[in-house]
Amino acid sequence: MTRSITVELGERSYPILIGSGLLQQIGGLCREVGYPQRSPLLVVSDSEVAPLYLAAVEASLTAAGYTVVSHVFPSGEASKSLTVYEEVMTTAIQGGLDRRSAVLALGGGVVGDLAGFVAATYMRGIGFVQIPTTILAHDSSVGGKVAVNHPLAKNMVGAFYQPSLVLYDLDTLQSLPPRQVASGLAEVVKHGLILDREFAYWCLEHAAELLALQPEALGYALERGCAIKAAVVAGDEREHGQRAILNLGHTIGHAIEAVGGYGAFLHGEAIAIGMAGSALLAARLGRDQAIYTDTVAMLTALGLPVRLPVEYTEEALMEAMMHDKKFKEGQMTFIVPDSIGAVSIVDDIRQEDVRGVIAQLQKEGSPW
Ligand SMILES: NC(=O)c1ccc[n+]([C@@H]2O[C@H](COP(=O)([O-])OP(=O)(O)OC[C@H]3O[C@@H](n4cnc5c(N)ncnc54)[C@H](O)[C@@H]3O)[C@@H](O)[C@H]2O)c1
Ligand SMILES: [Zn+2]
Repeated sequence: MTRSITVELGERSYPILIGSGLLQQIGGLCREVGYPQRSPLLVVSDSEVAPLYLAAVEASLTAAGYTVVSHVFPSGEASKSLTVYEEVMTTAIQGGLDRRSAVLALGGGVVGDLAGFVAATYMRGIGFVQIPTTILAHDSSVGGKVAVNHPLAKNMVGAFYQPSLVLYDLDTLQSLPPRQVASGLAEVVKHGLILDREFAYWCLEHAAELLALQPEALGYALERGCAIKAAVVAGDEREHGQRAILNLGHTIGHAIEAVGGYGAFLHGEAIAIGMAGSALLAARLGRDQAIYTDTVAMLTALGLPVRLPVEYTEEALMEAMMHDKKFKEGQMTFIVPDSIGAVSIVDDIRQEDVRGVIAQLQKEGSPW
């Protein structure tokens, strides 16, 4: 069964297909999108993903009559750089890509962000197809944010650029390492926590199936996650307002990533602790304490951390947060849950409450 969602963005609308055996159909689908066979296609992938899936993608494209050029770079966040960007551009130029060509991103969020930025800028923008191979990439493949990192700041050089098609082949997820599975599921349950109470509790009930990559459960979870993100993005494509709710758990999460050095916690692990923190903040603001209990139950069931190791000191985290965002007169903006499945953007969170939350996240046992 192939599931299909449309990201509604007027003339930039595009479909997301989720199912098994999709890699083998990519050639035909590129023809349906309208990419001409005389224009070469560039497949970008990383050193973990390419040995597993690149041959299948190339075979399908070649069978459909395309000339295929590929570029494989070392896996990992360090490759999301201007240097690798230039190397991929070189491959594109040498491969003779023209204005009607397309870039296909085969991999996780790193490949998607980098290849998308190549697609957005090669000859001022050519075709773009996302073939996400991580669960986390359900998040990055919806919304059109593409970027590379600058040595001084993450995602600093980028664009908004929508793909023509997203192909989510569930078979590719079977090779994901367990920590990457759980990390990706953090963003899935986040989409439930911000907008869909029923889906958040569904994730709790089906956690074991999700962690076991059971295709039926996984297909449904990715469909709901993509659909919720798509709905938020459709209402605010360029992040002027409401799109900020997608950042639930990310202020604390980004600080954890910065303090730990990127790589100590995976992104989803860091935002899981951040989401537990947001629920503690909600309790401080007088919201129901069950928000915290249930959020923690969901994250724990998905194999995610909800506590801070003590070496992440309050001072270091506060400093990282202040670097990320300005405190205006001692106050800052946070996404705060109102209940499971509903959040508010609150712009007058006091520094002392954030400090209190960090201290609670560090305590052993229940903070209550
Ligand atoms: N554009 C957006 O809106 C957006 C949103 C969220 C995250 N991101 C970006 O996404 C990136 C993180 O994405 P990610 O977590 O997918 O990281 P990633 O692309 O680095 O993938 C994680 C690891 O898994 C490996 N891998 C990928 N697919 C695999 C598979 N099927 N089998 C085995 N191994 C596989 C990769 O080689 C890598 O080592 C960050 O750079 C982040 O900034 C972007
Ligand atoms: Zn995130």
